[in-house]
Amino acid sequence: MLVWPVLDHRQTVMRVTTLLILATTVTATVASDADWWQSALIYQIYPRSFRDSNGDGIGDLNGITEKLPYLQQLGVDAIWLSPIFLSPMYDFGYDITDYTKIAPEYGTMDDFDNLMTKAKSLGIRVILDYVPNHTGNESEWFIKSAQRDVEYENYYIWADGVPDPDNASVILPPNNWVSNFRKSAWEYSTTRGQFYLHQFAIGQPDLNYREAKVQQAMKDVLRFWLDKGVSGFRVDAINMMYEVDSAQFGGAYPDEPPSGAEGATPDDYEYLSHIYTRDLDETYYVVYDWRDLLDEYFKKDGEYKIMMTEAYTEITKMIRFYGTETRNGSIPFNFSFLGEINNGSNARDIKMVIDKWMTYMPSGKTANWVNGNHDQSRLASRLGTARVDAMNMLALILPGVALTYQGEEIGMTDGEVSWEQTKDPQACNTDDPVNYWKKSRDPNRTPYHWDASAHAGFSSTTGETWLPVASNYLTLNLAAQMAAEKSHYKFYKDVLTVKKLPAVRFGDLETTAFSESVLVVSRLLPGVPGVVGIVNLSDKEHHLDLTSIKLLPVQLRVVASGINCTHKKDEWMRKSNITVSAHCALLLQTVRRCC
Ligand code: GLC
Repeated sequence: MLVWPVLDHRQTVMRVTTLLILATTVTATVASDADWWQSALIYQIYPRSFRDSNGDGIGDLNGITEKLPYLQQLGVDAIWLSPIFLSPMYDFGYDITDYTKIAPEYGTMDDFDNLMTKAKSLGIRVILDYVPNHTGNESEWFIKSAQRDVEYENYYIWADGVPDPDNASVILPPNNWVSNFRKSAWEYSTTRGQFYLHQFAIGQPDLNYREAKVQQAMKDVLRFWLDKGVSGFRVDAINMMYEVDSAQFGGAYPDEPPSGAEGATPDDYEYLSHIYTRDLDETYYVVYDWRDLLDEYFKKDGEYKIMMTEAYTEITKMIRFYGTETRNGSIPFNFSFLGEINNGSNARDIKMVIDKWMTYMPSGKTANWVNGNHDQSRLASRLGTARVDAMNMLALILPGVALTYQGEEIGMTDGEVSWEQTKDPQACNTDDPVNYWKKSRDPNRTPYHWDASAHAGFSSTTGETWLPVASNYLTLNLAAQMAAEKSHYKFYKDVLTVKKLPAVRFGDLETTAFSESVLVVSRLLPGVPGVVGIVNLSDKEHHLDLTSIKLLPVQLRVVASGINCTHKKDEWMRKSNITVSAHCALLLQTVRRCC
């Protein structure tokens, strides 16, 4: 059995002592500004789909502000807003025209300031999306770069095309690079007479980080929002930031080799091995520089500014974002719950996924657990409703940061979006009215289900909402779950009551697969109450004897009982005789001193 000490003993004693002192003066759940992030619950808001305050069918900033009290009572520490900046919305805000302006459909800068003030008053921190790999093609930087304005000439990745050997009047793209959204990653600019690189939509030209001015301009963007009081950033598509230096190849960008991926065609991103456009070494040092910049603000106001980076890549490459022995970095998103767990995964598989991150993560760093985001099918649709409570509980009791995508706390499912209603460029680029849904991210972006009223309480529009509301909103909605005796929402809230306990923040982690069906995760710390999460993945009841887990007292109390569990909250159980009903996620607490 493996046990991960989350802090070394000396740190633990110091932290616990500090917390106990705090507990007598304020409340045990208050974290100091310096370490708020290390055990934070971060709630991702996709602004377009959260709450529409002005009835235009599109979510907006005032809608978020209106719902902040809900997020406060839910218990979130910080909200991460997907991009809210001026954009033509080809990729729904990930194509930015101006990093320092608010998209008019989301509101004004005054609305943003108001959101910040309200959030602060409720103790909720605000984290913004930072999109450094590309701007939108309506950006002034891009327009001037296409015009070869000296100041902006090298802001983007430009290259000459090659004449078609079969028809000299046709100019082909510089090489075979493919966009994440399919087809050539190069687009011709008639203004400049060259191709520009876009690793996503045509409207998302890639910035050139070999140009010092770009590095500076993007640092200015960080400062702009830090000066406005944000508590950090989620960094988009970070591992795509650098391309190979064309100077090493005589001024041209070389072809990427085929990956051999089964079924992939030359138009598919998976067709190539992205050795020249992904995970380049230079990327890490830019992230470490940004960390230094964020730390300047930490020194100024004592509030640690979080930075979380998005890179879908191998774990060894991901964890380099954490930093080196001499440089601090970011928290790389841990996407293993999304990519390595499916509806057939058993308890041993899930244990291995948890253990893997803890094993690769450099010691002293902060783990994180992502159960969903705006790019992935929803938890309930991916793993089945029966696993929603289990996965939410694991993310909340494991060490470090938990990330919840809006709606996962109530177990929302993917909505139904027809080809005609499809908006996601990744799906539209398939040009396939039959199989588009395999690539579409629209179903997981449908509006939040507040209640059973029209448009699920998302919007008062008399027309259509920007994406259709999922049809199950009449029964699956927040109001219904608040009123029900048992619900995903109630379970989630009950689990959250333990997240700030010293044992959950600093205690050791032990993961045990008692069988293929039962996973037990304990978070224990000598001298203070600890917790034990039990997940039964099977459709049969199981009996457990937990005496093999060290430090557990004889009696345990039920703190949270999932929708499929027969146990009542506050019921007592003996550690040697625990019964877990089919598909039940159960959280127990050691209330007495455990040793
Ligand atoms: C990230 C975002 C995704 C976007 C892409 C391009 O992966 O999460 O939504 O389409 O980057 O910015």
